[in-house]
Amino acid sequence: MIMRFSILKRGFSSSNAMSAAINQVTVIGGGLMGSGIAQVAAQAGNTVTICEVNDAALQKAQSRIQSSLERVAKKVYKDKAEDGKKFVSDTMGRVNLSTKVGESVQKADLVVEAIIEKMEVKHKLFKEIDGAAPAHTIFASNTSSLSIKEIASVTKRKDKFGGLHFFNPVPVMKLLEVIKTEDTSEDTYNKFLAWGKAIGKTTVTCKDTPGFVVNRLLVPYMAEACRLLERGDASARDIDTAMKLGAGYPMGPLELADYVGLDTTKYILDGWNKQFPENPLFAPIKIVDKLVAEGKLGVKSGEGFYSYKK
Ligand code: CAA
Ligand code: NAD
Repeated sequence: MIMRFSILKRGFSSSNAMSAAINQVTVIGGGLMGSGIAQVAAQAGNTVTICEVNDAALQKAQSRIQSSLERVAKKVYKDKAEDGKKFVSDTMGRVNLSTKVGESVQKADLVVEAIIEKMEVKHKLFKEIDGAAPAHTIFASNTSSLSIKEIASVTKRKDKFGGLHFFNPVPVMKLLEVIKTEDTSEDTYNKFLAWGKAIGKTTVTCKDTPGFVVNRLLVPYMAEACRLLERGDASARDIDTAMKLGAGYPMGPLELADYVGLDTTKYILDGWNKQFPENPLFAPIKIVDKLVAEGKLGVKSGEGFYSYKK
């Protein structure tokens, strides 16, 4: 079943910048990243469908997008509250919700996958949508750490497959990493670049290597901060304060790990540890494993290294 945000105005603003080729976007997974990706696509004028596992997850994605759009509106339409309201309702009107994977991709020009960071789960999903999406549809994964080529291997459209790696929070972070595998066609790659530009991101291109550019640098940094804490070298607060005031980072590494999600951080490290067991930077971290086992996943669950309970 595909639901439209019923009380919200439909509409499509042709004046908004967007790629000629990509009008209909399906985002699979409406969590932290998927809801942000859906939001920026809808803001740029795309018609978007978010596909999630159940209605509760869809409602969560919907309210996350609503409050993020309200923050954007407050900033952009400072003295024009009515224009701000219209911006929010017009954007929400371009977002459809679905719990049916096959149905959700039937009109898609582009599918962006943003589900759990586990290869076998991504494989199951891409097998299913490869059979359901039109032949022209291009596929992208927002994976943080997995091989795009390996994710694409279960499909019959390896030339129409690449990586589109966004950053959290998607409406704010300006970067989009575009990953071209040896199978990605020039046409698909150019569509990714054009769409990235249309949704207001600055693109960089990287080969299909573990962590691409940002995470290859950022994840070991976060992991080393967890190890500092585990060894008792400094408190969590002092580690974070040190990197904010001593290195000018907007968040400390432990705050950032909580923000990214400790589950996602753990899946990234576990995957790389399996692939590169000799690299100590990717070794498992007891404190992270313990927090994840306790359901303390960071900001999204209300507790991680810090508590976010109101
Ligand atoms: N939607 C819309 N706007 C948002 C927003 C959201 N979800 N979150 C923040 N904003 C806006 C705010 O409205 C505010 O705008 P103005 O300054 O124009 O008023 C601005 O962003 C700053 O927000 P805040 O004042 O609330 O808070 P802040 O100054 O502490 O900034 C932050 C918040 C942007 C998240 C900043 O702390 C930051 O940049 N942190 C680092 C984030 C980062 O490194 N992300 C990458 C993670 S790694 C990754 O994503 C890849 C992976 O695969 C794991
Ligand atoms: P999340 O846990 O916030 O959201 C994942 C969502 O996917 C959940 O809502 C879940 O219900 C849904 N889901 C799981 N299986 C599904 C399926 N088969 N069909 C539809 N929905 C399904 O995770 P996230 O942080 O949004 O991460 C998603 C992806 O983006 C991961 O690959 C992650 O590595 C990557 N990523 C994360 C970040 C980050 O900072 N968190 C940044 C960039 C990339």
